[in-house]
Amino acid sequence: MAFSKILYASATIISALPAALAGFNVASQSNIAVYWGQNSYGQASSQQRLSTYCSNGQVDIIPLAFLNGVNNPITNFANAGDNCTVFTGTQLLNCPQIEEDIKTCQATYGKTILVSIGGATYTEGGFTDAASAQAAATNIWNLFGPNTAYANRPFRTAVIDGFDFDFESITQNMVPFAQKLRDLMNASTSKTYYLSAAPQCPYPDLANNDMLNGAISFDFIMVQFYNNYCGVQAFVPGAGTQNNFNFQTWDTWAKQTSKNENVKVLLGIPANTGAGAGYQTASALALIIAYCKQFSSFGGIMIWDMSQLWANSGFLDAVYASLISGGSPITANYGTTLVAGTTKGATVRT
Ligand SMILES: *[C@@H]1O[C@H](CO)[C@@H](O)[C@H](O)[C@H]1NC(C)=O
Ligand SMILES: *[C@@H]1O[C@H](CO)[C@@H](O)[C@H](O)[C@H]1NC(C)=O
Repeated sequence: MAFSKILYASATIISALPAALAGFNVASQSNIAVYWGQNSYGQASSQQRLSTYCSNGQVDIIPLAFLNGVNNPITNFANAGDNCTVFTGTQLLNCPQIEEDIKTCQATYGKTILVSIGGATYTEGGFTDAASAQAAATNIWNLFGPNTAYANRPFRTAVIDGFDFDFESITQNMVPFAQKLRDLMNASTSKTYYLSAAPQCPYPDLANNDMLNGAISFDFIMVQFYNNYCGVQAFVPGAGTQNNFNFQTWDTWAKQTSKNENVKVLLGIPANTGAGAGYQTASALALIIAYCKQFSSFGGIMIWDMSQLWANSGFLDAVYASLISGGSPITANYGTTLVAGTTKGATVRT
């Protein structure tokens, strides 16, 4: 991964890093983001601690789900929260194990670790006015950014790499919130911070549209192509123009509406049959990924979620193989050879 920020550190460090060092790469069409924190698979032991997943060389970006209160900050990491305590008088978890794991995931494996804000249980509806939105942004920045002396930080001295917005209900005054957060991130010299959003595929996405409609500069978005008529299940193999599957619409958004014209669009998919409506097998996805590669905004795959992915043996290997394979878009016919796949972590990305 030629452009990982870790590589900037010094020439001597480069030679010591693992070959499969990952992290968000704006120049790549093979980024893989996987949400961790909600244990969607649902069995008590299915979601393991964060560091379990970071040695995998195929995953680049891990959004931690969720911060599902902002005005009144609330963290929820399902069973991973059992390894945390609660800061007295708050709804914030105090998580030394996640602190340790974020540092390992970043320093040893180069992962981009985001805090995902929102989720289906977010109910605040945004902010009453711009001033309170900006104040909340400053508080969130202090809770997760480089100000490690701040009180009640869920990940304590660990510093995350940015934020993801996953609002799923109507919100107000999100633009001043997002702009303040973006300004704080851009002004910080500590490292490069990223901002992403996870709209649902029907365009425009009502919950996040004020921010996506040219107001805020996102580095990438991870569109949920599931639970909707426009999801991956609607893809028609061999059709140059797709009827319902609407990646092309989001490519047009990237080029014509997005504030950042270099924004990347990740294809969001369910990891398993129970992870979301519209799950597609890896061999069906091979054709969809080949189709998406024709769009210059295509930046890779988002997967919901880690626990479901690890329960679906071979799926990540196959998706990764589709991402890194050559082949002409639309007409490519990868058949079953890709599903045989590569060994997890064994393939070095070019
Ligand atoms: C909780 O901590 C135990 C002991 O370190 C670890 O094995 C387990 O994976 C952790 N669970 C989660 C969900 O983080
Ligand atoms: C902040 O940084 C991003 C990414 O480099 C850039 O696109 C954006 O224009 C910058 N400024 C603001 C105010 O978003």
